[in-house]
Amino acid sequence: MSSYSPIGPVVGIVGAGQLARMSQPPAIALGIELRVLANTPEESAARVIVDTRVGDYRDLDDLREFAKGCAAITFDHEHVPTEHIRALAEAGHAVHPGADALVHAQDKAVMRERLSAIGVPCPAWARVSSPEEATRFAEQHGWPMVLKSVRGGYDGRGVWVCRSAEDVAEAFATGVELLAEAFVPFERELAVLVARSPHGQGVSYPVVETVQQDGICVEVIAPAPGLDPEYSAQAQRIGLKIAHELGVTGLLAVELFDTPNGLVVNELAMRPHNSGHWTIEGSTTSQFEQHLRAVLDLPLGSPKMTAQVVVMANLLGGEEPDLFKRYEHVLAHDPGIKLHFYGKEVRPGRKIGHVTALGSNLDEVRARARHAAVYLTTGEYT
Ligand SMILES: Nc1ncnc2c1ncn2[C@@H]1O[C@H](COP(=O)(O)OP(=O)(O)OP(=O)(O)O)[C@@H](O)[C@H]1O
Ligand SMILES: [Mg+2]
Repeated sequence: MSSYSPIGPVVGIVGAGQLARMSQPPAIALGIELRVLANTPEESAARVIVDTRVGDYRDLDDLREFAKGCAAITFDHEHVPTEHIRALAEAGHAVHPGADALVHAQDKAVMRERLSAIGVPCPAWARVSSPEEATRFAEQHGWPMVLKSVRGGYDGRGVWVCRSAEDVAEAFATGVELLAEAFVPFERELAVLVARSPHGQGVSYPVVETVQQDGICVEVIAPAPGLDPEYSAQAQRIGLKIAHELGVTGLLAVELFDTPNGLVVNELAMRPHNSGHWTIEGSTTSQFEQHLRAVLDLPLGSPKMTAQVVVMANLLGGEEPDLFKRYEHVLAHDPGIKLHFYGKEVRPGRKIGHVTALGSNLDEVRARARHAAVYLTTGEYT
């Protein structure tokens, strides 16, 4: 690498998971060079990005070394210590999102405090430091109650739906800092993805429905079926308002509960998000391209859909370690299906890829995505 010099701006992504990996195709098209900070050279993005640096995202010296020469620094995950992000910005690096925005995606209590303060609908919630305090919260707001780890949760790890004092004790036995939330009796889960650039331009993608199983997103339907246009615009306004008020730069995904009494915000992510993977084929500007544009403060691209209906299904690892041998059937069965494999070792339940189907009939498009996902992961025919 000694004679290597980049042509075009370098965007440094801290973390080398599938989100960084899927940022590579639009970076190639735009002549942007990506650099990733990986834990190991075997990680998803490290396998496809030439400028992979191996280091520790919790170590400020590693981050400083990584940031040298980058036009912008952004993230594949939420786990970089907030004070390190602040230190990079103070050293003159363009970090997007900045620490003051990102903390709302890192710390669910800070997020709840801020959203409540700006009038965004949230479930009743409280910080709780003992099982007794949590039980009192449940007695006040009703069982079941949800306990969540304040930091570090993902894919439902760090979320406990508690129906009794025993469940509460189980969550506290983990020793992590918790917050309590009223259980929201939602009809379905929605998500809205918006982008905001440092100069303040904002765009919103269509609102999608996200289907979770055991706390993990398994399917995304764009646009959310049967959504009233005014309600959908309201969700988009919530997304843009949060992005503006929190000073988000880059992408912001807002997970929402659709309830009989209106929209309630679940949580925020400030990076490309699983609920936006459908945009790779399903939108004029994919979320990955949009994030790169935003962090470089370029004008944002059109979020317009390329088909009437787009369905994405996640591939969760099963028993078969080699998915490639199942490609032949899936690709022959449906020449329109799009496969994405993250270059990750298959482990049961692990997100290893996704498939996307586009079309005009919801039931048909959904069935195609499901067929491909089920066959690839289980070998079963639906
Ligand atoms: N207050 C609540 N009421 C009802 N269900 C909830 C509540 N909070 C969370 N859930 C359920 O648990 C799932 C996971 O919660 P949440 O999104 O907060 O956790 P996470 O582990 O951070 O998720 P992610 O994988 O999106 O990062 C939600 O998608 C929803 O199905
Ligand atoms: Mg979530």
